[in-house]
Amino acid sequence: MKVVATFAEARSLAWGRTGLVPTMGFFHEGHVALMRRSRTECDTVIVSLFVNPFQFGPDEDLDRYPRDFARDTSLAEAEGVDVLFAPPPDEMYPVQPSVRLTIEALAVVLEGRARPGHFEGVALVVAKLFAALQPDVAYMGRKDAQQLAVVRRLVRDLSFPIEIVGVSTVREQDGLALSSRNTYLTPDERSAALVLSRSLLVAARAVVGGERNGETLEGVVAEAVAAEPLVELGYARLVDAFDLVGLPTLDREAFLAAAATVGSTRLIDNLYFDGPDLTPDTGVLLDRPSILYAERAQTAVRDGGGECPQSER
Ligand code: PAJ
Repeated sequence: MKVVATFAEARSLAWGRTGLVPTMGFFHEGHVALMRRSRTECDTVIVSLFVNPFQFGPDEDLDRYPRDFARDTSLAEAEGVDVLFAPPPDEMYPVQPSVRLTIEALAVVLEGRARPGHFEGVALVVAKLFAALQPDVAYMGRKDAQQLAVVRRLVRDLSFPIEIVGVSTVREQDGLALSSRNTYLTPDERSAALVLSRSLLVAARAVVGGERNGETLEGVVAEAVAAEPLVELGYARLVDAFDLVGLPTLDREAFLAAAATVGSTRLIDNLYFDGPDLTPDTGVLLDRPSILYAERAQTAVRDGGGECPQSER
């Protein structure tokens, strides 16, 4: 694996079908799933690692976002990644960008409502990666289903000749969707947080049993969360997977999006429905504790304890 810091070097190493996995590092099995999928489908696998300041709000956790470059390098190497592209800030943004992207309806609902400007920042950095690295395909997690929708729309609206592949959510053994923030939940908060994935699973069973009513499915999540005093619901919404418009009936590719606050930690999760029969994608369960926890312990010793990242990414 080559570790490179410039767009030019990264691009020069690509040959054949080229897959890009955009990341902000501090890898866990969710990132690894994207690398593996890309490895099976591409000649060249490029993983980008850049903590993008433009997608963090002023009160968010840019400075405290977890970082461990050595650990990320060895994880990517073990997955057979060809190029780890880790640009310094002045390679990504040599000057303060004057051109910004505005995203209409897609970025003002769900997470966009809680995090104004976030998806514009994501779109800016992803557009730069796409323009400069010219991958044939990019791999993104269904965990961040709204981000996936925004990137699909970016590709369509700006005519990038790039295929976007959405990869199933990787979950901890008990169902909690993997996120770097899970490590910061207290034991009580962590068990309370399970209400999110558990209620989505109940909704999945209802859909398999024939339920198609949007309000009913949203209600499954809302009622379960209401019964859990440590968890406060942000939203539970069944939306079209592409335009994110609320759906009264599950009759097309869609996801049931949920966000909740547990203590001071905001968590998101969703249940994605696709295929002709709208089969729920409940994700993939790990069969052992996540690498996030092992590495967290080491990081805590080395850095004297990390801080809780406040945002989902
Ligand atoms: P980051 O949070 O590092 O996530 C990188 C990719 O991993 C995203 O596509 C995300 O959806 C995916 N991912 C995260 N958790 C996952 C899980 N549990 N299962 C499956 N996939 C998961 O998302 C970003 O970075 C940034 O916004 C980025 C797109 C890189 C732009 O800066």
